[in-house]
Amino acid sequence: MVGLGDPDDAAVWKLDEERALVVTTDFFTPVVDDAYDYGAIAAANALSDVYAMGGRPFLALNLAALPPSLPPEMISEVLRGGAETARQAGVVIAGGHTIQDQEPKYGLMVLGFADPARLLTKGGAQPGDILLLSKPLGFGTTTTALKRGLAEPADIAEAVGWMKTLNKKASELALEFGVRCATDITGFSLLGHAIEMGQASGAGLSLHFSQVPFISGARRYAREFIFPGGASDNRLYFGPEVHFAPEIDEASQMLLFDPQTSGGLLLAVPPAQAEALLAKAAQIEQPLWQIGEVVAGAGIEVLP
Ligand code: CO
Ligand code: CO
Repeated sequence: MVGLGDPDDAAVWKLDEERALVVTTDFFTPVVDDAYDYGAIAAANALSDVYAMGGRPFLALNLAALPPSLPPEMISEVLRGGAETARQAGVVIAGGHTIQDQEPKYGLMVLGFADPARLLTKGGAQPGDILLLSKPLGFGTTTTALKRGLAEPADIAEAVGWMKTLNKKASELALEFGVRCATDITGFSLLGHAIEMGQASGAGLSLHFSQVPFISGARRYAREFIFPGGASDNRLYFGPEVHFAPEIDEASQMLLFDPQTSGGLLLAVPPAQAEALLAKAAQIEQPLWQIGEVVAGAGIEVLP
């Protein structure tokens, strides 16, 4: 149902009328110092692509490349972070593969099930749909500040807390309220993933900068122009599709190109469902920010 022809968050294979198999993999180098948190974030990030398709993950395998010099207790902390996060998702890690490598890499291959009639794809957004985001931004700039020894511990703790958070509840809410269009915000930044959504849907997106949530340190690090290299790559690649209102300064623009690790879901919600969905989200304490809407046309417009 979803493969190379129509790239999305995960591949989807229809088994029968009731069940489709959702398959994805993701791994990366450490984004934080703590081994347990690294494993937990990598697992939450890998699981996220199943949630972004409207799937329920159920089985996973570890993928690890670790330096032989790494103390065994540190290796077990990475794997424990991954396993406990998977368990929170109701997922069994049933095995995996490890090789030696100078630079650590860890992640999961994940299998999930979805209802073939109720997938959350990048296409399917309609003009008038409300755009909701389930996690704040600023993880790239904050973890880059950490790598340069410039980050406040409280800012790191805040970023880590969000990055370890599963997109499970946001995905379940989307399905419950008939949302058909979603993606998760990861390396291509909010704008990159929003552009993919717009292109797949044949529509444009209008975002309101003042409504976009950021973690506490993000604006501060952005003003000092602390960004990972991927932020500039994203701006080069996606910039031509974006029109910024003149009030939005350079640091603010870069924040929207900031690559996210284990970011939130971006949902395009039909206006008739939005109010009920937001009410239910508040009731179950699932944060959701309304950051803009889908419009006719193409590309992205960022308003103040
Ligand atoms: Co994704
Ligand atoms: Co991915």
